[in-house]
Amino acid sequence: MKILVIGANGQLGTDLMCALPQAGHKVIGATRQTLDVRYADQVKRALNETRPQWVINTAAFHNVEQCEDEPAEAMLVNGSAVGVLARECSQRGVKLLHISTDFVFGGEKRTPYVETDKPNPLSAYAKSKLEGEKQVQAAGEQHLIVRTCGLFGHAGSKTRQGNFIEKMIKRAQAREELRVVGDKIGTPSSTLDVTRAIDDLIAQDASGIYHVTNEGECSWHEFAQEALRLSGSSVRVKNVASAEFKTKAVRPAYSVLSKEKMYALGVAKMPDWREALQKYMNSRPVQ
Ligand SMILES: NC(=O)c1ccc[n+]([C@@H]2O[C@H](COP(=O)([O-])OP(=O)(O)OC[C@H]3O[C@@H](n4cnc5c(N)ncnc54)[C@H](OP(=O)(O)O)[C@@H]3O)[C@@H](O)[C@H]2O)c1
Repeated sequence: MKILVIGANGQLGTDLMCALPQAGHKVIGATRQTLDVRYADQVKRALNETRPQWVINTAAFHNVEQCEDEPAEAMLVNGSAVGVLARECSQRGVKLLHISTDFVFGGEKRTPYVETDKPNPLSAYAKSKLEGEKQVQAAGEQHLIVRTCGLFGHAGSKTRQGNFIEKMIKRAQAREELRVVGDKIGTPSSTLDVTRAIDDLIAQDASGIYHVTNEGECSWHEFAQEALRLSGSSVRVKNVASAEFKTKAVRPAYSVLSKEKMYALGVAKMPDWREALQKYMNSRPVQ
């Protein structure tokens, strides 16, 4: 397949750019410098020049706190610009795989969310990402929406200045105790495993919404504890309630996603998040 990856130097984009060619695809990468999704002319030009069969859109304004201050910009990048991209793809018969988020859910459940569960976005970021999903769906049948959760990859998250693991390791070097939220439950997910599942979904010519994360679930506190243990740090990690941290954005208390729909299609089982974290730590460049 000929695939255009938008957000090619982001955390997920970097692994897609590396793994998809190894899987036999011809891959073209677009960064914000070459394709800013906010500008329709740049979207049209990129599609006309590259003529892909698939577009994977990883680009997003996803600094969740900053989105609360800039809701219009969040709606533009994550909502209306995605609509333009989806319509331009649809007009050309190009399939769009758009990356979305567990945050579209409100966290009311205590069992994994399935794709047909009703969204209830709690923050400006989540509302804008749900708007992006709606615009993709409205543009036609040729789409695939992949909702994922808690991404970690060696490229780090560009818009959050490093992923959660690296932030914890850095903080642990400077402090005797870390305080991490223990009442928000999700599934940390390796960008490498998500990339492999994306390749499987493309191979199946899947369409509609699919949930793609690692297996298992944990709080941010458990995730930090495990990452620090694997890094060899003995710093204490205190379990604190999210109410103790003042944040502008409200986040779901529970956002674990069910992968049953993806498995029913024949996509290989995802590793548990602990296994994925161990793999990440084993291949972590020496700091
Ligand atoms: N990270 C998570 O925990 C998480 C969880 C669930 C879902 N997601 C979703 O997964 C996707 C990928 O996340 P990630 O962690 O890989 O993010 P990331 O590392 O921040 O990458 C996002 C990329 O989007 C690019 N971008 C931002 N605004 C753009 C614009 N206007 N036009 C073109 N490119 C633009 C950024 O380019 P610059 O570097 O030039 O700014 C960056 O390369 C996003 O859709 C996000 O909403 C992420």
